[in-house]
Amino acid sequence: MTNTVHVELGARAYDVQIGPGLLAGAGARIAPLLARPRVAVLTDETVAGLHLQALRDGLAEAGIAMEALALPPGEATKSWPQFIRATEWLLTRKIERRDIVVALGGGVIGDLAGFAAAVLRRGVRFVQIPTSLLAQVDSSVGGKTGINAPQGKNLIGAFHQPSLVLADTGILDTLAPRDFLAGYGEVVKYGLLGDAAFFEWLETAGPALAAGDPQARVRAVTRSVQMKAEIVARDETEQGDRALLNLGHTFCHALEAATGYSDRLLHGEGVAIGCALAFELSARLRLCSQENPGRVRAHLRAMGMKTDLGDIPGDLPGAEALLALMAQDKKVVDGKLRFILARDIGAAFVTSDVPPDAVRAVLEDALAAR
Ligand code: GLY
Repeated sequence: MTNTVHVELGARAYDVQIGPGLLAGAGARIAPLLARPRVAVLTDETVAGLHLQALRDGLAEAGIAMEALALPPGEATKSWPQFIRATEWLLTRKIERRDIVVALGGGVIGDLAGFAAAVLRRGVRFVQIPTSLLAQVDSSVGGKTGINAPQGKNLIGAFHQPSLVLADTGILDTLAPRDFLAGYGEVVKYGLLGDAAFFEWLETAGPALAAGDPQARVRAVTRSVQMKAEIVARDETEQGDRALLNLGHTFCHALEAATGYSDRLLHGEGVAIGCALAFELSARLRLCSQENPGRVRAHLRAMGMKTDLGDIPGDLPGAEALLALMAQDKKVVDGKLRFILARDIGAAFVTSDVPPDAVRAVLEDALAAR
């Protein structure tokens, strides 16, 4: 069972294929893109140990040779030193304009490899093979690529769409439960931002999905990618609607900064907590019903996910300091914070019209409840 979602972007359009066994069939799927039968693969050491041989075999079946560079795992790899290493390696491997770079890994590898492809010889094509749930439902689709700067996350990069995304849902079986649930934070986000029926389905199917139900996983990844593809097709470079994908992210980025981008809070965990806070803020501003935030939190709790600020271990700064961290967010426009708020579950919207006092009050209450 393979689902295909088409990302409709004119000359930059591409397919996202979703299902089990895609790694083994990668050769036949990538072959039509190739001018010559060889690819360069960027991956990380952990993913390489788990999946590189399967990719090598899958490519070999179609007569495609591959060379691979495995970078260290972890967020620190999304930096200039590893980026330089990757691009220089691609040049030494004589990757030409018409060749393909393959990103095999989670969000870090996808972002770095995509950016390397964007600038190598002024742009070569690349294929995303996302190996984490977060990468399958979010970062591998939509063409945001880049690395982190000392000044902040993702501040150096380019929009560069992949030519193909192969989301092998069988790979998700190798994820640690915590990483799977962090990625699930992004899945829930899609239901909350634009599809109440999907959220309702997740409330029922979520536990089976987390336990490994293959069909539920394909359905969840497919619906998430469909929603992302629709939004990206409307607004590729985030001039408007694409910001909807940042539901929960303004709170999340402040919490990630406050916890030093450490293991205390994974990105997807921050997104889940951020979504709960965004609904809390929406309810406080009387934009959505008072029941909505409780329903969001109840689902996250039922899934065993981080839900409230009390679930983040260690100290957190006060509300004022968190507000200051939010003000450094990329989404600040003309000094005004842009929030994604909701009128209901499945009905999010973008606004710059949020009184800071209301945000402060939500944070103060959430911190007091720790
Ligand atoms: N992860 C948000 C976006 O791709 O726009």
